[in-house]
Amino acid sequence: MERRKFIKTGGLVSIAGLLIPSIILESCKKKGMDMSNMATTSISIKEGSFSTLLPILPFVSPIEISSLTAQQSVSQPFIGHNSTLLGYHSGILGPMIKAKNGDSISIAFSNQLSEETNIHWHGLMIPQAMDGHPDHSVSAGSSFNYQFTINQRAGMYWYHPHPEMKTAKQVFMGLAGAFIVNDLEEENLKLPNGEYEIPLVIQDKRINYDYSLNYSPTETDKMNGYFGEHILVNGLYSTYKEVETTYYRLRVLNGSTARIYNLALSNNSSFEVIGSDGGLLASPEKVTSLLLAPGERVDLLIDFNGQAIGSELYLQSNKFDGGMIQGTEQFKLLKFIVTKKSSQTFSLPSILSSIPLINANPSLKVRSWVLGGGMSGMGSMSGMNSMVMPHTINNKTYVSTEILASVKAGDTEIWEIDNSMNTEIHPIHIHGVQFQVLSRTGGRNQLIASEKGWKDTVLLLANEKVRLIMTFPQNKGKFVLHCHNLEHEDSGMMVNFEII
Ligand code: C2O
Ligand code: CU
Ligand code: CU
Repeated sequence: MERRKFIKTGGLVSIAGLLIPSIILESCKKKGMDMSNMATTSISIKEGSFSTLLPILPFVSPIEISSLTAQQSVSQPFIGHNSTLLGYHSGILGPMIKAKNGDSISIAFSNQLSEETNIHWHGLMIPQAMDGHPDHSVSAGSSFNYQFTINQRAGMYWYHPHPEMKTAKQVFMGLAGAFIVNDLEEENLKLPNGEYEIPLVIQDKRINYDYSLNYSPTETDKMNGYFGEHILVNGLYSTYKEVETTYYRLRVLNGSTARIYNLALSNNSSFEVIGSDGGLLASPEKVTSLLLAPGERVDLLIDFNGQAIGSELYLQSNKFDGGMIQGTEQFKLLKFIVTKKSSQTFSLPSILSSIPLINANPSLKVRSWVLGGGMSGMGSMSGMNSMVMPHTINNKTYVSTEILASVKAGDTEIWEIDNSMNTEIHPIHIHGVQFQVLSRTGGRNQLIASEKGWKDTVLLLANEKVRLIMTFPQNKGKFVLHCHNLEHEDSGMMVNFEII
């Protein structure tokens, strides 16, 4: 119970080696504080040669997938080197599930790990008993039947463990999988499919000299998030994909514990955002880069028409303003090699879907969730140096028996997530519901392309405040709201709310 200890020390811990946002460093220097024991950590990405073929995990239907087993095995995310890791089958990650709206899911889950785990179906609106709330963990050696019916629009969702204080490690070690839902509306659009529809699960991993995955966060890592120097896509390091001169649909999940990617193409060309967490946008949004935080998904169309045969380009992550902690370097994620003139014809539809905007009636209940802790506590602690607070939501760290809000099924509310007093970054995720983002004030002061549709995770950069609007479904019971920086989640940046 490390976190409890953390709190008992009075909520204050001295952390050597913590990354300090520059703005705080400045104010500390002004106050004459000694910041000399606060070194900066830097994890630089090691890119590799992009000479391994991108693995496309086959999609499996709910009928084909009757069981999942959390297990340890040895496989080769780095070709030629054995790594011991976790997965929902032998090897890293789990099967990519592709279901239809209305399908019944029945999965016999077996926990072959040496500790508790469970499965949370991120983004799916399903009964509370199936949601993988940390209360519902499955002990080592036990099993549980996940049974639910899919009742929501097409989109890319995902599944991963959610045991209290162990989520980050288990996800990092390999437990995660994509869960795609299709429906008729989407099918009728005739978007690129088959070999032209590519799911991409992007994760960063830190490894030991023997290529075993290394999850060993220090106190500093727990504050900043744990970063790896190697990027795996679909569970494999430094990969390439051969493409034709046509449109490809990339369905991207950021399954990293803490790292944010600023997706872009290496030739700087634009691409179309057609969907986000909760499915298709109303119409395509053209961008040249797009931030994707842990837990978020985006649906992209990349047009390779006009690329010379033999040419290469990369999906990469551009620099962005993420304080001193994130976005400080540009690095490549995946290489595309254009190998063939395509006979495919696809023209981009101008309308994708209709997103009925939830009416932000001024009489709606507004709830405020204030993000705190971390280095942000420093301003008010004059005279104390090198101090940080645990990350909090409304001044609380997670207590499993505490429920901070009760909402009525069917009610619409506005939830304000307030990071305006902070220089740190938090991707906030809400279980059990899909929301719309009404506004962002402070920081970037605007919504990004992927925020113009349904969402379940929203990124707050320094000093930002967002307003979300949502109607709670009829699935009653206890759900969580938490930071999807999984190191933050595990150190208690999570609260319960209930739908009654
Ligand atoms: Cu993807 Cu509560 O998490
Ligand atoms: Cu979730
Ligand atoms: Cu956070």
